[in-house]
Amino acid sequence: MSVEANIRRVTAVDIRARKGGEPIVSLTSYHAHTAAIIDPFVDFMLVGDSLGMVMHGMETTIPVTLDMMILQGQAVMRGSKRALVVVDLPFGSYEESPAVAFRSAVRIMKETGCGAVKMEGGRQMAETVRFLVDRGVPVMGHVGLTPQAINTMGGFKVQGRSEASAEAVLADADAIAAAGAFAMVVEGVVEPLARAITERVPIPTIGIGASPACDGQILVLEDMLGLSPRVPKFVKRFGSLAGMIEESVSAYAGAVRDRSFPGEENVYKPKT
Ligand code: KIV
Repeated sequence: MSVEANIRRVTAVDIRARKGGEPIVSLTSYHAHTAAIIDPFVDFMLVGDSLGMVMHGMETTIPVTLDMMILQGQAVMRGSKRALVVVDLPFGSYEESPAVAFRSAVRIMKETGCGAVKMEGGRQMAETVRFLVDRGVPVMGHVGLTPQAINTMGGFKVQGRSEASAEAVLADADAIAAAGAFAMVVEGVVEPLARAITERVPIPTIGIGASPACDGQILVLEDMLGLSPRVPKFVKRFGSLAGMIEESVSAYAGAVRDRSFPGEENVYKPKT
């Protein structure tokens, strides 16, 4: 069997080639079962550092560690078989130098088997993106509202409302594209800026809170499923999982209390 015949997953190169074509569909994914469910529907899934907030109830993504990302990356790789899996480089694992970033990215790729990493930041990270890409690590960029910079940004603030802010994000997007990223997340920016970035950079833009002007969209899975208690304006709830869980758990609790569960069909019998 040829080497090519074994490659079944979407690759970073495939995603790069989708610029300007059919919109790219993506969601976050943190665990094996949901990865298996969403796998047929998405082009890539992101093991985002938002897992700190969604899975662990943290207030920001700042405390998330490389080990946490690797553990959930492994779970998502086990659950999925077709979509590209991209794993976030968490805060503190890459900013210090290109060499530190390379070591973190290599750990992620070797220990999870994922196909790419994502890194927040603009012009200041361009040299690092180039360093990684030149050494075989596909990098997805992330510009606009970058949650790991929440403490310097002063909160989760929409970017590009002023001309100066829009110019800065455009320059970031240019730098990340020129450095060799295969795609970039554009988060929390006003529509005209999302459109300007998408028209200008030669790689796909993946929007979150960045209007339909992007080449694709990403949402946090738990947000769009209706599981997260609070969601930002840009999220549409496509499901109501919290309600379904409540109903199911309430039915279970009632069945245990009135002894209708376990029923005959759930009980092991001795061999006769
Ligand atoms: O961590 C994450 O979920 C992300 C998305 C918001 C793009 O980076």
